[in-house]
Amino acid sequence: MFTHQNNTLRLDHVGQTVKVKGFVSKKRDLGNLIFIDLRDQSGLVQLAFDPENPLKDTAETIKNETVLLAEGVVRERSSKNKDIPTGDIEIDVQSLDIFSKAKQPPLIIADETDALEDTRLTYRYLDLRRPKMKDILTKRHRITKAVRDFLNNEQFLDLETPMLTKSTPEGARDYIVPSRNHKGSFYALPQSPQLFKQLFMISGFEKYYQIARCFRDEDLRADRQPEFTQIDIEMSFVDQDSVLNLTERMIKYVMKDVLNKDIDTPFPRLSYQEAMEIYGTDKPDTRFEMTLKRLDDVFKNTDFKVFKNVLANGGCIKAINVKDGASHYSRKNIDAFTKDIGKYGAKGLAFFKYDEAFSGPAVKFLSDDELSHLKTTMAIKPGDLVFVVADKQAVTNASLNYLRNTIAKDLNLYDDDTFDFTFITDWPMFEYNEDDDRYYALHHPFTRVHDADKNNIEGDPANVKAYGYDLVVQGQELGGGSLRIHEQTMQKAVFNVLGMDENMQRSQFGFFLDALSYGTPPHGGIAFGLDRLVMLLTKTKNMRDVIAFPKTASAHCLMSDAPSAVSKKQLDELGLAQTSDNDETA
Ligand code: AMO
Ligand code: AMP
Repeated sequence: MFTHQNNTLRLDHVGQTVKVKGFVSKKRDLGNLIFIDLRDQSGLVQLAFDPENPLKDTAETIKNETVLLAEGVVRERSSKNKDIPTGDIEIDVQSLDIFSKAKQPPLIIADETDALEDTRLTYRYLDLRRPKMKDILTKRHRITKAVRDFLNNEQFLDLETPMLTKSTPEGARDYIVPSRNHKGSFYALPQSPQLFKQLFMISGFEKYYQIARCFRDEDLRADRQPEFTQIDIEMSFVDQDSVLNLTERMIKYVMKDVLNKDIDTPFPRLSYQEAMEIYGTDKPDTRFEMTLKRLDDVFKNTDFKVFKNVLANGGCIKAINVKDGASHYSRKNIDAFTKDIGKYGAKGLAFFKYDEAFSGPAVKFLSDDELSHLKTTMAIKPGDLVFVVADKQAVTNASLNYLRNTIAKDLNLYDDDTFDFTFITDWPMFEYNEDDDRYYALHHPFTRVHDADKNNIEGDPANVKAYGYDLVVQGQELGGGSLRIHEQTMQKAVFNVLGMDENMQRSQFGFFLDALSYGTPPHGGIAFGLDRLVMLLTKTKNMRDVIAFPKTASAHCLMSDAPSAVSKKQLDELGLAQTSDNDETA
């Protein structure tokens, strides 16, 4: 239909007759002259209608977002626009074909829109007309392509796994799909291809990948969606270094290909334990210092009741030093911090400002010796502000992690161009949950335990370490994976610790336990959140902005209005009945 993409026209084309298409982005009616900015996927070009142009009357009636084809001659503009690549030229229109008129759109189709997000999501097809959204989705394509190019080149096979699978425990909540042929039975949408990719290894495939859609019915947060995409990878006959090394090369390739940015490899590695000790979290932001220091030793003989009791009860005391922070934060700010960390269970926040001497409400409880020990341990200089939390280990860590991140953001201690890729390794295999009085797998139940702990899985689950690893960047978990169990006995021992009896193991994972008994290569893999990778490379803070048709925080598609009621007939076919209290049947 057309001869050129709008954004490709330049002074070189002057004198040529061209045909261009697109949406009317903006019309300027100067009375005797009319200009139209015509937008296609590539960008903008200006159409001009001179006073004597017979099409000028038609042009006058055209509204924004009308879709048309224009033919005309490229000419040099008299007043050039330096802001757009086609700003030196315009098209003197000679014929016009209007495909479709447009109503007044409910949002401004421009990078800067004041539309509410709900409006943008309801009219997503209009929102996606904004160049900014086009740029993000185009980048998403380039990232996916770079990943595929890299993995294809490394001889990985792109293999598909089912969407209708079996609901199994031990993950997030499943999305379930009722079966018509087997009334009363349900499929589950996959939370990840985990078991299937392992079954590929058992089938003798050695390098698998898939850009895989995953579904998890969990409470949504800013960095989560109910359906999201993983770059899912599995390899056999590999050790942990092989997987981490592949990851480094893949990330390096993508960063170079998409951003033309050189990333240093190998990535630093921190054990889970080190990360928790130094940063108080398993996803540390390592772009800035302000690390957590342990003060148990400083206060081991203290008379200050709060600290004394915490230490006596097996808790810990840790602190961060906000360099030159004393003048930045008022008592009111600090009271707000104290309230904030209450949500992690912290019962208080001690602070010390230092100039020539210490000041702060807790100073009077501490001896000179303790204060001087505090000063050296925290490397305190005049102008510094130190925050101390004493509590159970988990509470202390979570509170100081929150403060560290919040204050770093506040004081601009980092920027979005620093990519601090870091591996967190050697995760504990299990975590004990006091509320449920049972162990959970920290990664997942198919993770291989350290050789040294192989015989202690059931005897001492709390201290079993696993070959699990996460890739963390800018304080976010970008990917996670592990070496996998390849012996049935080890797999059963892990299931036992998770409280699954023999019957449950058979009914939930029988097929998989059987598969492990027919010869299984050692294998391992990793999965990256593609949506998170796109956010990182496009500096986007909202995950919905990198997904073409996302869900809201309550897992609702505002455009199609999914989820929605279904007919009584559909329910009958599935053998389902609606309970009366939430009967939304159409
Ligand atoms: P995991 O559950 O850690 O591992 O997921 C891997 C990566 O997927 C991303 N991710 C999400 N992104 C958006 N929305 C969500 N709700 C969401 N949940 C996870 C994260 C995460 O790092 N099968 C294992 C991987 C393996 O062991 O190989 C798995 O799914 O970036
Ligand atoms: P109090 O004796 O409760 O008035 O506390 C004295 C100082 O210790 C105050 O600055 C409190 O905020 C602080 N504090 C109280 N509990 C804790 C805690 N668990 N960790 C750190 N500081 C605390």
